[in-house]
Amino acid sequence: APPPVAPPPVAPPLPVAPPPDRPFALPAGLGALSAAAPVVRVSLLDGSQAWLVTRHAEARAVLGDHRRFSSVPTAPGYPRSGMVGGSTADTAVASLGFIRMDPPDHTRIRRMLTHEFMVRRIEELRPGIERIADELCDAMERAPRPVDLVADFALPLTSSVIGLLLGVPAADHPLFRDLTARANRIANTPREAARVLDELAGYLDELVAAKEREPGDDLLGRLVVERLRTGELSRPDLLAVAAVLLIGGFETTANMISLSALSLMRDPETAERLRREPALMKGAVTELLRFHGIIRNGPRRAVTEDVEIGGQRLAAGEGVIIAVSAANRDPEEFQDPDTVDVCRPNASRHVAFGFGVHQCLGQTLARLELQVALATLSRRFPAMRPAAPLARMRFRADMTIYGLHALPVIW
Ligand code: HEM
Repeated sequence: APPPVAPPPVAPPLPVAPPPDRPFALPAGLGALSAAAPVVRVSLLDGSQAWLVTRHAEARAVLGDHRRFSSVPTAPGYPRSGMVGGSTADTAVASLGFIRMDPPDHTRIRRMLTHEFMVRRIEELRPGIERIADELCDAMERAPRPVDLVADFALPLTSSVIGLLLGVPAADHPLFRDLTARANRIANTPREAARVLDELAGYLDELVAAKEREPGDDLLGRLVVERLRTGELSRPDLLAVAAVLLIGGFETTANMISLSALSLMRDPETAERLRREPALMKGAVTELLRFHGIIRNGPRRAVTEDVEIGGQRLAAGEGVIIAVSAANRDPEEFQDPDTVDVCRPNASRHVAFGFGVHQCLGQTLARLELQVALATLSRRFPAMRPAAPLARMRFRADMTIYGLHALPVIW
């Protein structure tokens, strides 16, 4: 009899979920992949394969090289499976606009937005964010306990802030929150992904039509007056800008707020230190962004020309996924990486916001919201604690953005 033929080596699945008993750990298996090599093969839900970049230096090398690593989902090899906007629908909104473009298209549109997100402009939002945070705390005080810190604080805070910035009426918040939640499921089929983004496009079309009739003094209103009417920005591109800001602009920050609040409740020494020394909050937020590394399913790129990285040859037409969470816990870069150290000197070298030309446009706003949220909670509810054991908490292992589905708390 002929000798049995060895099956081809099977690439392990892309790790996204931490072990159930260690919700703050890296996704199960990712630590081992990272220890084995900086660049490894993984398989995706649809059976396709991609390269996974697991270390800090290589993550920065890929994210910093937009020429060899394209963000365009229609580029050959771009790993679409399980990705928001990874559907095959070919509209501006479905592909999520400039976050999925390469320079020079990307540069042209991003430039129209950068001044809106400058530190000074964002700082002007601080009193408004503080007021929203305090009002939510007032309501929590009146509500029966336990209170759900996700539904009653983190989500309403960040969706109100993005609504304020973009000029989205409060009555629409439940709708765009629901659409975002549906868009961010890892297990979405391309059809489901396309359907959600279609619905979002329909909603945004009405929203922008209202702005065209009556542009207010908000980001979308200004884009209508300064860019749409001047012909600099097409209407589909404007809809896609609105889509990426809405989809990217609040669930991310909300999950960082609830994860950070939970990790501080479980570390009373650090929480007390932040209460005593509020000046440490800024660095603490940076460190929490590193530690939690909540983007679990991307960023993604397509290789445009053969390139060697981390000792591997990547061929043009292959896909790449950057494991931000693993890069943020690379022991070569961060000493004792699984510990939260609010005074870590190099915490700001994390890649939680990406790196390179696509580095998060909203990061100043996200950091401000996190600082205000955590400081307000710690001032208003110093005795707040989880109302359920960790093992019973529902973590978002099924979502492209890690975090908590709910966080019941008492005080
Ligand atoms: C891009 C993470 C909050 C708007 C990115 C990227 C990451 C990221 C990793 C890079 C994607 C890539 O390279 O393909 C986060 C995290 C957040 C957060 C972890 C919260 C903790 C926000 C907020 C906004 C925002 C609050 C808007 C108000 C954007 C936009 C881009 C982006 C517009 C695309 C930038 C570009 O392609 O040039 N974000 N983000 N993000 N983010 Fe964020």
